[in-house]
Amino acid sequence: KKKLLVDVDCGVDDAQAIMLALAAPGVELLGITCVHGNTTVENVCRNVLRVLQVCDKLEVPVFKGADRPILGNRLNAGHFHGKDGLGDAPDPNAPGLDRLQEEGAVSAMIRIVNENQGEVSLVATAPLTNLALAVRMDPSLPSKLKGLYIMGGNTESRGNTSVCGEFNFTADPEAAFIVLNDYQCPTYLACWEFTCRNKLSWDFCDAWLAQKSHKAQFMAKIFRYSIEASKTERFEKEVIAGPGLISCDSYAMAAAVDDSFVLESDQFPVSVELVGTHTRGMMIVDTMGLLNKTHKAFIIKKGDMEKFKKMMMAALK
Ligand code: BDR
Repeated sequence: KKKLLVDVDCGVDDAQAIMLALAAPGVELLGITCVHGNTTVENVCRNVLRVLQVCDKLEVPVFKGADRPILGNRLNAGHFHGKDGLGDAPDPNAPGLDRLQEEGAVSAMIRIVNENQGEVSLVATAPLTNLALAVRMDPSLPSKLKGLYIMGGNTESRGNTSVCGEFNFTADPEAAFIVLNDYQCPTYLACWEFTCRNKLSWDFCDAWLAQKSHKAQFMAKIFRYSIEASKTERFEKEVIAGPGLISCDSYAMAAAVDDSFVLESDQFPVSVELVGTHTRGMMIVDTMGLLNKTHKAFIIKKGDMEKFKKMMMAALK
C-alpha cells in the first residue's frame, strides 16, 4: 500500500484532493495535518473532519498545526473558498473539534515519518509552515521520506495572491524557502500555471457533481461559492487558458497516489523570493544552475488528464 501523509489548509480544493486520496485504490492515509491558509487552522480542522465524515473515514487521525506563518500576518482565501473555507455551507451535524488528536501536527509528522522510514509520501496542499517547522525540529526528516508532493509556487511569475505570488508560497514565503532548500527527497511541484492550463471543463463538473452519491451532494453544496467566484470576469481574465474548474490541490494528490499521472516534468533547482515589492513569495526556477544547489525538483509539465478525470469521478462515487 502507498502510505500518504497529507498537510492541508482545507478549502474546497483541499477537500477534493482528500476525497481523491480516500477513493484511490492501494492508498493508506496515515494522517492529515492541518495548518492555517485558506482559513483559520480551527476551521481547517473542522473542515477536514467534515470531509472524513462524508467519506465515512473518521478513523483517519487529524492533527492541528501552525495557526500562522513563520513571519508576518496570516492571509486567507475567503473570497474564493468562503469565510469558513468550505463555501459557507455549514453542517449542523459536523463532528466537533474534540475528535482531533491531542498530539500536534508537527510532532505527529515527525513521528509518523520516523515510524515508516522511506515509505511515506507527504502531500502538501497548503502554506508550508508545518513542514518547515518539522524539518527544523528533525533535520533528517526529508531523507526519510519517499517523496514530497507540493501544490504551490509558480513558474512564470504569475500570481494569484500578489502580482507575482501564488497563494501557498506567499502565505508563508519563509516556510516555502526552508522546505525547498532542506527537503532533499524527490520533490514534485504542481505549480499554479500548470493547474490553470489543466482546468476541467464546466461540462465535466456538471457530470461530476451529478453523480448520485452523498459525496457528490456534499461537494455540490460546498463548491457553489467557488464556482461562482471562478465564473467572475476578473477570475477568468487573470487565469490562463479560459473558463473551467481549477482543482489545484488535486493535481499534487494525483501525482502522489498514481506514479503514472506525471507524463512530463522539468527538473531544476527551485527557491523562493523573500524580498521585493511584488515578488515576495514568488518561486524561482534556477534554469542555469546559478544557485549552486544540487537538489532538483520535478516541476510537473504534463499530466495524464484522462486518468485525472477518472480519479476525480471516483472521488465522488
Ligand atoms: C492554492 O491556494 C489555495 O487557495 C488553494 O487551496 C491552493 O492550495 C492555489 O494557489
